[in-house]
Amino acid sequence: MHTPLVARCVRGLESAVAAEVLSSGLGVVTDLRHREVHFRTSRPAPQLRTADDVFLFAAERPDVGTTKHDLHALAELAELTDADRLLSLRRALTKTPHRLTGIDVSASFLGRRTFSRYDAEDVIGPALARQLGVPYHSRRTGAASPPGHWGWRLTLDGTRATLMLRINDRPLHRRAYKRHTIPGTLHPPLAAAMAAMADIRPGHVVLDPCCGAGTLLIEAALAQPEARFHGFDLSPDAVTAARANAVDLPVGIRRSDAARLPLPDGEVDRVLCNPPWGSQAHARGLVAADPTRWWTELRRVLAPDGTAVLLLPDPDTLAGALRHDLTPLHIQRIRVSGAQPYIVHLASTDRARRRRATSQASGGAAG
Ligand SMILES: C[S@@+](CC[C@H](N)C(=O)[O-])C[C@H]1O[C@@H](n2cnc3c(N)ncnc32)[C@H](O)[C@@H]1O
Repeated sequence: MHTPLVARCVRGLESAVAAEVLSSGLGVVTDLRHREVHFRTSRPAPQLRTADDVFLFAAERPDVGTTKHDLHALAELAELTDADRLLSLRRALTKTPHRLTGIDVSASFLGRRTFSRYDAEDVIGPALARQLGVPYHSRRTGAASPPGHWGWRLTLDGTRATLMLRINDRPLHRRAYKRHTIPGTLHPPLAAAMAAMADIRPGHVVLDPCCGAGTLLIEAALAQPEARFHGFDLSPDAVTAARANAVDLPVGIRRSDAARLPLPDGEVDRVLCNPPWGSQAHARGLVAADPTRWWTELRRVLAPDGTAVLLLPDPDTLAGALRHDLTPLHIQRIRVSGAQPYIVHLASTDRARRRRATSQASGGAAG
């Protein structure tokens, strides 16, 4: 069975999701689109840590026009869908004999349209419900769907209208470990993608100097449990949240200022962090008084061959890295929660130079 699936993800993480599909031997990637990775798999329960959720591909047709008048054409997607086959595939994948009591649809589109997402949902939803012989629950009222309603997803990307069926009742991005949270906490699939980029090996010492609720270290520890993980935060609430979330994992959490860490020089192989420079979390303590101290301390604890994967809000913050003899190996802009920060993979300037020289000698490009 080579089931066509679609992984939805944060904008900018499409290649990270595709890499996870391929490196985990999950299947074959057939297309990369805006926030979507299409792939085929024969695995029963596809778990992807870098994706927001995974869907069964149902049908697609050319995108409809931009006005409400064009929306009726979406009903064709219901006719193109082999709904009975999809429902039994979903039952087989989740290994649960869930009874279907109804359906709902959530839609999203790119570009300016003169209709709302609810207008699109309320065209395809009733058409699908008629075909399945179950009620349709419109999301327009804001009321939650009754239990047993299976979620469908419609995306209009300017070229194609794609219909999918959600596999799991709970989206993949909701993690069971995340029982405690703090303002500005990181989206777990983004943390998983940053951890993958850091290439953490067994025995590595991994640091998050502003760990918040611990998301980055937890995702990293789940991916590579044979490393050692140190998290620090100045906020007692964050320390409590991270300790509770990371229980049972090899992650040590302590209270400290990121500008004065209780670690020896050159101790750390990998740094993972989204520092408190966004709109939701503010720097405090020594870092608030002088942000350059954050970089100085990171440079002090990082081993000569160490690297850092950081989420930075804008290119200005990157200047701090360059001034501290850290060079970007890779920069990726993403879009998450209405902001467009950068994932930046940094190495000491010496290491980056050596890497470029090796790459040029072997005829490749550094990246
Ligand atoms: C953007 S949040 C980190 C979120 C975290 N990655 C998560 O997933 O929950 C930034 C964190 O920096 C912490 N912080 C602010 N100033 C600090 C300082 N001087 N030293 C250590 N932590 C600090 C805040 O308490 C906050 O928890």
